[in-house]
Amino acid sequence: MKNIEIIGTGMAKPGKVVTNDDLAKIVETNDEWITSRTGIKERRFCDENQSAYTLSAEAAQKAIEASGVSKEEISCVICATVSAEYVTPSLACIVQRNLGLPEDIPVLDVNAACSGFIYGLEVARGFLNGNGGKYGLVIGCEQLSRLMDMTDRSTCVLFGDGAGAAVIKTVDDGIYETVLGARGGYEITVEGAGPVVSHIKMEGQEVFKFAVDAIPKCINALKEKSGITLDDVDQVICHQANARILDHCVRKMKADPEKFYKNMDRYGNTSAASVPVALDELVKLGKVNPGDTIMMVGFGGGLTWAGVLLKYGVK
Ligand code: ACO
Repeated sequence: MKNIEIIGTGMAKPGKVVTNDDLAKIVETNDEWITSRTGIKERRFCDENQSAYTLSAEAAQKAIEASGVSKEEISCVICATVSAEYVTPSLACIVQRNLGLPEDIPVLDVNAACSGFIYGLEVARGFLNGNGGKYGLVIGCEQLSRLMDMTDRSTCVLFGDGAGAAVIKTVDDGIYETVLGARGGYEITVEGAGPVVSHIKMEGQEVFKFAVDAIPKCINALKEKSGITLDDVDQVICHQANARILDHCVRKMKADPEKFYKNMDRYGNTSAASVPVALDELVKLGKVNPGDTIMMVGFGGGLTWAGVLLKYGVK
């Protein structure tokens, strides 16, 4: 089985900025409560011209351009999402069609909630090893504003919309490890997927306990499997659910906070989009460069968890 590297990233920002003060006009909450509990200051929602499709297509197009790979060379398209407008066609199929990507390749959505992008990388790796392709496209995209109960202050302050994408390439050697798992839990639910509007429900404290356990568990498993330490890793890109969760884990692991990027203050929790969006920002900031070793960690609905250790490279 060949390993994979990421060789290009892209993201799409929804147009509508919703601050904590904006939410305080809708539900009984305030900026101080939200900021101190979550680290979130604002989030973005799709405007009237945007949707999960437009965001994912924009992020994918940018990732393809950044990678230098031509569309004809893409040999699979995976989209991680729990909030696309259609159950079928998949979001991946809609992106494939609208970007004019090849037809004789596997194209599908992955649902592993906030761990979805990392699950998607491993699914894409499997497809590329199966079909002999060299390059794959993996997207994480959410329009969670579709699923939010804007009268429930315990959830509506947490989530946002967004999309991030990455082009991957198979490599014969290099560093690659992955850890994927799930507990089978109903702590975060969304009923009635598809055009029927339903709402995110969450047992926040149970999810908090799960998350502070899942992050170190994934990181330690990746360290053990690969034999490397966090000193050898340039950036650890975790799901951006909540700053308190991340800070707690960094302290517990006695890790360098500089390696644990945070952007939930600007986007909230964007589920499957959060890891690829953070990765793209780090690339743009020059904090992830070709040759770097990165870890990515996701956790969320399912209850799923996922970690991957891989190289950021070039075509
Ligand atoms: N504004 C003001 N008060 C609020 C709000 C709000 N937005 N939401 C809840 N409260 C109140 C509650 O009603 C409660 O009041 P009470 O004591 O009078 O009953 C009080 O604040 C405390 O509520 P808790 O739920 O105990 O608050 P907690 O400190 O646990 O924080 C939070 C809630 C932020 C959701 C926390 O549990 C958490 O971060 N959980 C993890 C959730 C998460 O990160 N999920 C994402 C991972 S999975 C995924 O991405 C899908």
